Amino acid sequence: MNMKKIVVLVSGGGTNLQALLDAQARGEIIGGEITAVVSSTPGAFALERAAKAGVEGHVINRKAYESREAFTDALLQTLEELHADLIVLAGFLYILSPAFVDRYENRIINIHPALIPSFCGDGYYGLKVHEKVLEYGVKLTGATVHFVSAEADAGPIILQKAVPVEEGDTPEILQRRVMEQAEWKLLPEAVSLFCQDRLSVEGRIVHIAEK
Ligand code: GRF
Repeated sequence: MNMKKIVVLVSGGGTNLQALLDAQARGEIIGGEITAVVSSTPGAFALERAAKAGVEGHVINRKAYESREAFTDALLQTLEELHADLIVLAGFLYILSPAFVDRYENRIINIHPALIPSFCGDGYYGLKVHEKVLEYGVKLTGATVHFVSAEADAGPIILQKAVPVEEGDTPEILQRRVMEQAEWKLLPEAVSLFCQDRLSVEGRIVHIAEK
């Protein structure tokens, strides 16, 4: 089996990228290799994490482009040059254009810090997700890894994990718990399953093949 080239798109701190790099160092990303990190923000801390792990970093600065289309075109060109087999959105802040999503159908994976279809879609990003979870009063939240479709947070679900909401939680405390207990485990696991060709998509359903 050819090693799949994984390109991770980031915009910020990159703790999910770190989880992927650490999993790779432990030999847990089977059949794939993180070959590049592309940031939409110059100076993102995620780029330092990449450099430290010896992974090349690129910047496609969203603010340098007038439209989403122009930004997306530049991104697409870079991904073609990198021969990406799998694109992982790890705290990437921008919604990709339908043309982009079509080009990489079922080859783009995103992590969302809630149990989709709850607390997702337009406006649900970062700490806002956890604020809304606390406001609503649900007792369980979690994280979801899914394939990206043209609509935000609506693509086929690969893995989910529940995390309890506890008395006295602040959005920051809950965010941290969701990351530690769910996000940092689920994302490397989903990436490894993809790289082993164990995921198949039938409509909305993702089947996971046994080893
Ligand atoms: C995470 O909560 C992730 O689920 C969401 O954005 C956040 C990124 O954090 N999509 P980091 O940059 O990986 O630390």
